[in-house]
Amino acid sequence: MQSVDMPACPSLTAPAETDVVVVGAGIAGLSTAWELSRAGLKVVVLEAGRIAAGVTGHTTGKVTALHASVYSRLRSRHGEGAARLYAASQSAALKRIVEVAEELAVDCEIERRPAFTYGEDPSSVEALHAEVTAARDAGLDAAFVTDTGLPFPVAGAVRVEEQAQFHPLKYLRALADDLTAHGGRIYENTRVTALDAGEPCRLTTASGATATARHVVVATHHPVFDHALLSARLTQHRDLVIAGPVPADQDPQGMYITSESGKRSVRTAPAPDGTRLLIVTGEAFTPGDGEDTEVRYARLRSWTEERFPGFRTTHRWAAQDNSSTDTLPLIGRLRPGAEHVYTATGFAGWGMTGGVVAGQLLTSLITATPHPAWAQLYDPHRPGATLRTAPEILKAQWDAGKHFVKDRLETLGDGTNGPVAALRPGEGTVVRADGKPCAVHRDDQGALHAVSAVCTHLGCLVAFNNAERTWECPCHGSRFAVDGEVLQGPALHPLEQRDTSRL
Ligand code: FES
Repeated sequence: MQSVDMPACPSLTAPAETDVVVVGAGIAGLSTAWELSRAGLKVVVLEAGRIAAGVTGHTTGKVTALHASVYSRLRSRHGEGAARLYAASQSAALKRIVEVAEELAVDCEIERRPAFTYGEDPSSVEALHAEVTAARDAGLDAAFVTDTGLPFPVAGAVRVEEQAQFHPLKYLRALADDLTAHGGRIYENTRVTALDAGEPCRLTTASGATATARHVVVATHHPVFDHALLSARLTQHRDLVIAGPVPADQDPQGMYITSESGKRSVRTAPAPDGTRLLIVTGEAFTPGDGEDTEVRYARLRSWTEERFPGFRTTHRWAAQDNSSTDTLPLIGRLRPGAEHVYTATGFAGWGMTGGVVAGQLLTSLITATPHPAWAQLYDPHRPGATLRTAPEILKAQWDAGKHFVKDRLETLGDGTNGPVAALRPGEGTVVRADGKPCAVHRDDQGALHAVSAVCTHLGCLVAFNNAERTWECPCHGSRFAVDGEVLQGPALHPLEQRDTSRL
């Protein structure tokens, strides 16, 4: 985000009429908008914040079909045919990114690299061998290796050649520029708050401006307007990321992810001064679980410094992903009966290729030239998806249920008798004030900020993330600033303001 200026676009202030409205300008939304525009349709993109500043702006930018140990899972859950289709579609996305970058003559730092899924513990070797077999059967050129280029020993790894890493914002800037040059329109700071899925579809924004279109694509990461209850089939996790210069002799030449629990992901990227930056990801957690995020960052730093002794952290950030309960992304019609409303979500952290698959697939569906095999694989309403993963869905619902207000209100401390007074600068807590849950944060100057602690999506209680200074909802991952503004959906509306004098 520091190294590229994204184009500044206006907000929507007047009624817009078009063929397709795409809601969300991350990689899935912009890829879809760009492909549709190339297919000759008029497209309007409505983005609640800035272009690619959400989940896409926080990715580590790996472009690969090797997604940790996905092929063993796909084979056992969906069969070898599904695993083959998955590998083919994700590989096609990699190819598409390279093609589009060439066509638009954009230098988005594409580097062809091998991808590895590795394990440090000898107990992971059997599963890694199984993943090699499953990935090979799915059509990838996978091999079992013990030499990975990492500056520390591993027990084994799956290696797939000729994958890629890139600078996602440089790529998306080129897509956005080309889209607008060809008549597409992008509106930023334009939050869509309502969708009438009629013919045509009609969208209303927070400012009251409206847009009508024959088709709507909801590419908001966790889908807003989820009347099909896809939320129940999505789980979310947040990963921490650190980056900084790494000495040349410790620069591994590939892209890496662990196969074991306690995930770590590693890649390097070119720095503006010609050196290399190491980017390490890990410490995944459910947003809003209330644990100390600074402690998690410290764990990630020590893990990295132990293995890359010359590394020092200069940047840190976090990214949020969601995964479907049956492993496969959800790309297609948002709900049965709404013929012209589509979505793309559940990329499980592999949205660089997943978002591009979505662009190709949704364009095929909208222009009525569907790719039958992919469409069936990723169809959000694929036969048996709910039944097959009923235990996972029930667990997700049970976890979410624990956070609903009615279950927790009684356990909250009374804001008038201590917890707020004890808050130090930078901290936040949820208390009961006037019988209602209240989220209170003390800023660096000592001033209190209070908002309702009830998430405006479906009513769970938010919790404070002390490293990012945000309120996070454990149920479906909505995130809010300390003043209550929505940072990430599915919530559409801010947390209500509360009177700090009542605390
Ligand atoms: Fe769904 Fe908060 S209740 S995100």
